[in-house]
Amino acid sequence: MTVPTQQYSIVARTKGVAQLVPDALIPKLRDDCVLVRTQAVAVNPTDWKHIDYVTQSGKARPGCDYAGIVEEVGANLSRPFKKGDRIAGFLHGTNDDNFDDGAFAEYIAAKTGVAMHVPDNLSIEEAATMGVGISTVGQGLYQSLQLPLPGTNSGATGTILIYGGSTATGTLAIQYAKLSGWKVVTTCSPRNFDLVKSFGADAAFDYNDPHCAKNIAEYTSNQLTHVFDCIGSAEAVMICANSIGPQGGKYSTLLKIKDWPRADVEVLYTLAYTGIGEPFTKAAYGGHIEARPEDYEFQIKFWDLAEKLIREGKIKPHQHIIGQDGLKGVLDGINLLREGKVSGAKLVYRVADTPNISTTRSHSSAASDRTVSQIPRLFSPGGRRPRVSGAKRCTGHPATSQPHSRTSVSSTSSRGPSSELGYRPPSPPGSKDGHRRQRPPLGFNEDSVATAAAALVAGGSQLAVPQTSGRSVDLSWGLRTRQQQRRYMSMPAVATPPNSPDWFKKAQGPSIFEIFEKSQPTTRRTFQFAHAASAMPKNPKRRVALETADEFLSVQVGEDAYFVRSDAMGVADGVGGWSQYKGANPALYSRKLMHYASAEFEKLDDILDSDYSIDDYNNVDPREVMQQSYDQTNADMAAAKILGSTTAIVAVLRDDELRIANLGDCGVMIVRNDEPIFRSEEQQHSFNFPYQLGTGSRDSPKDAQTFSVKIQEDDIVILGSDGMFDNVFDDDIVEIIRSVVQSSGTRNRTSVDPQKISDALLRRAREVAEDSRYASSPFQTRAIQEGMYYQGGKMDDVTVLAGVIR
Ligand SMILES: NC(=O)c1ccc[n+]([C@@H]2O[C@H](COP(=O)([O-])OP(=O)(O)OC[C@H]3O[C@@H](n4cnc5c(N)ncnc54)[C@H](OP(=O)(O)O)[C@@H]3O)[C@@H](O)[C@H]2O)c1
Repeated sequence: MTVPTQQYSIVARTKGVAQLVPDALIPKLRDDCVLVRTQAVAVNPTDWKHIDYVTQSGKARPGCDYAGIVEEVGANLSRPFKKGDRIAGFLHGTNDDNFDDGAFAEYIAAKTGVAMHVPDNLSIEEAATMGVGISTVGQGLYQSLQLPLPGTNSGATGTILIYGGSTATGTLAIQYAKLSGWKVVTTCSPRNFDLVKSFGADAAFDYNDPHCAKNIAEYTSNQLTHVFDCIGSAEAVMICANSIGPQGGKYSTLLKIKDWPRADVEVLYTLAYTGIGEPFTKAAYGGHIEARPEDYEFQIKFWDLAEKLIREGKIKPHQHIIGQDGLKGVLDGINLLREGKVSGAKLVYRVADTPNISTTRSHSSAASDRTVSQIPRLFSPGGRRPRVSGAKRCTGHPATSQPHSRTSVSSTSSRGPSSELGYRPPSPPGSKDGHRRQRPPLGFNEDSVATAAAALVAGGSQLAVPQTSGRSVDLSWGLRTRQQQRRYMSMPAVATPPNSPDWFKKAQGPSIFEIFEKSQPTTRRTFQFAHAASAMPKNPKRRVALETADEFLSVQVGEDAYFVRSDAMGVADGVGGWSQYKGANPALYSRKLMHYASAEFEKLDDILDSDYSIDDYNNVDPREVMQQSYDQTNADMAAAKILGSTTAIVAVLRDDELRIANLGDCGVMIVRNDEPIFRSEEQQHSFNFPYQLGTGSRDSPKDAQTFSVKIQEDDIVILGSDGMFDNVFDDDIVEIIRSVVQSSGTRNRTSVDPQKISDALLRRAREVAEDSRYASSPFQTRAIQEGMYYQGGKMDDVTVLAGVIR
């Protein structure tokens, strides 16, 4: 690829102001650098801090984290790279001493001592999250605190407190400390307890709990000696100081602190920029700082080790969210960090998504392309599908007292604008907090959906759909798929058509809980979900409301909402047909329903300290949870005179049993060893008119189907809104999971990253949804079976939850 003479780049102009400019110069290639065509960049707190408080030149380029492709190679590299290599690493962003530094540009000069070859098991977006974190953890844990390097089996072991475990630095530090053989205690918000434990933390404590230090001291039997502080606030200092035992120890911080209260503890401070081995001047950091070649030497070895550990799957990236608009979006991301609106996730931007970027420059992510091409495409690449003879065009349903249509199928032109893939909301709350939290009923406010929490941007790159001419579409494919499915379904075979309203009631038989209680064995394995969520609203410009600590326990995605915990999951899909009714808010309805369902499970989190018994915990019934949340949601909606309705599914894990209550057309699928062992069916009054819960609805949780499925370690549970199940055939869900498992290089599914599964399914669902011409979709198949003419996928909000049983 020819390197252009000018490029898009962000420049820090004046205090607090950064701009994207189209005519920045390409950096000069220095001997110790490679020229990198960036594909993805990630945002760090240091970016906004430099823009607001540090840089003075008006010309420096911000950005420290990058991943991309090597285009040119300097003469004297610290670590070997060649043209075409995938590379990720750390740069000195917003460097007033060298305006060529900084990651937020199409082409950058990268020093190879603080970079790695991106291993095959890492996407380019994941790789972009790691640069600052790796360098920082190297300095903080190993240069400063002198922990033994992973694999060396030398040096002391003990317990370390990683303060701020849910930070991007913290999740890496937890993993490294564990690899070094240390026990890890950490602090974060309760909503991130599951997150930090999934990275290996042995115990997590809420830093907002006034007894936090006391609890840590008790947990560590007053023996704590080492602290790595990723926050550095005055409160952090006090908690860290009071957690260390009476014997004293070492405290290493990433931010310079004013006062340290204990003389028996050595205070250490590191600054990642010294790891690059070059001098720099920053008035805010005390003026001129000499080069530290020893720091760079350490980093060269540390990055060598990091590359190996990542390739071996021993170090995993922080969660990430892909924002829209590439380098332009980075400016939004900087602002979100500045406003403290990002929790437990890293914001990543794909350079190719930058508006107006030259089409002759290819910044597309090789990793994403590869992921897509690994998944067999379900659309026929070419040829218009044959018109179905005798089919009538679907025009939706006649008006009734309650809107019921899931989506208009009257015209493919009703779909939203060509949308972008890639939004990935962070995991919602719902972890076991270790103490009971009382949640007041949600305050009601028309705008609460929009204002409830941080609104993170949706987006990502568009996936190219190959449109070569060729085969025609086999219309019986979907039907065959569903017949295959039925073999695996636990629903009994029935002679009456599924569209009959009583079908599910008849088919369902006695409550599974009655059966379950009688047959409960005495010794059973206890499992949890390693879980992840991927979701995208129908209209990508529509904001996604995340939870806040004191408000919702659910995440909203368009009119979908979900919650996910290590023992339960739920998805609700607000019925879009309400949009024509004044005072209706189906999005709020679905979000409240999921909030209250999650709150029902939260009540059982600490039965020792609550009104609930172990029997309540053991016997929790998802249909009863649905009933409770339905009652509370309806009460709220009635008080606020707001209308709405939703479909919903709730699943809970107890021991080795997954209990499910499903009402409407959300769904669940369980996959074992590349085979579907269970799949729920839609409940519909008629085609495209699902059962639903709502203000004045004729259906209620009593109508929900209930299932009980024995699960095993390694099973993979997928919950989704109809945005997924209407667009992705069951066989393809299985195939996509198989492909993700295979590409993760392990036969042991328990170590597969559920995020990769949910991402891949979301990607497929959006791919099909956006294709109104060539895709074959389950929704299309059913429409055709109903004698209606419908082509392609169905544009809808898509929510995918993945749980790997561990
Ligand atoms: N010296 C260096 O070389 C160096 C290098 C890297 C980073 N840093 C600094 O280290 C800090 C962390 O950076 P990062 O990128 O790892 O962070 P990050 O991922 O942006 O951190 C976000 C997390 O910080 C936690 N948090 C925010 N305010 C907090 C508070 N007052 N007390 C406790 N936790 C709080 C939140 O956790 P919960 O949501 O769980 O509450 C949130 O999830 C930043 O200040 C950064 O500038 C310094």
